[in-house]
Amino acid sequence: MENDRKRYFESFAEEWDKMFTAEELELLDFLIDSFNLPEGARVADLGCGTGVLFDIIRRRIGPGGMLIGIDFCTPMVQKAKLNFPFANVYTVDADVECLPLKKDSFDIAITFAAFAHFIDQKKVMQEVSRILKQKGRFYIVHLLSSEELEEHHHQVGGPVADDHLPNREEMMRLFEEGRFTDVKITDHPGLYLAEAVKE
Ligand SMILES: C[S@@+](CC[C@H](N)C(=O)[O-])C[C@H]1O[C@@H](n2cnc3c(N)ncnc32)[C@H](O)[C@@H]1O
Repeated sequence: MENDRKRYFESFAEEWDKMFTAEELELLDFLIDSFNLPEGARVADLGCGTGVLFDIIRRRIGPGGMLIGIDFCTPMVQKAKLNFPFANVYTVDADVECLPLKKDSFDIAITFAAFAHFIDQKKVMQEVSRILKQKGRFYIVHLLSSEELEEHHHQVGGPVADDHLPNREEMMRLFEEGRFTDVKITDHPGLYLAEAVKE
């Protein structure tokens, strides 16, 4: 099952970079800007793919910050590393359900276009909570509403046909169980953004 999913994402690795429109990249830049990432922050990008967020994040955290992209699809992380060979940008080939990262060591965690694909979302939430420092922030982003995303995955079919985001109540519960507070969920056509602060 997991291998089917990995193979599925592997099949897109070569062409993945070309999937983003200029409009989407601009929107991502705007969104990440609204997160006010502090200079020098340590940021984890979960399910980073080929690193579409890397340069956007890197420019904000500056040379004193550190960015780690994590993805279990080897060709995706290889491409991310090739695309962004910067001294303070690292990639890790790993499953986000079991992060090989120290506890209380990150200021920010971001997952873009990926949370709906995580099978054990509760486990991921717990792992993110573990690696974040107190008052660390977690952002879950998709450039579709939860409803649009579900419909999109049904249409795409294959191993991701049933991938979806938890409904609002479930997402609130996941954050609560992960010891997050200040939860905000925006869910409208063209954007899903769930954000919260670790207690
Ligand atoms: C739709 S892609 C998005 C990639 C990237 N964030 C982007 O927007 O270009 C979803 C990514 O999540 C990764 N992924 C899915 N489940 C994962 C897991 N359990 N652990 C690590 N990566 C995972 C896939 O390999 C894939 O690269």
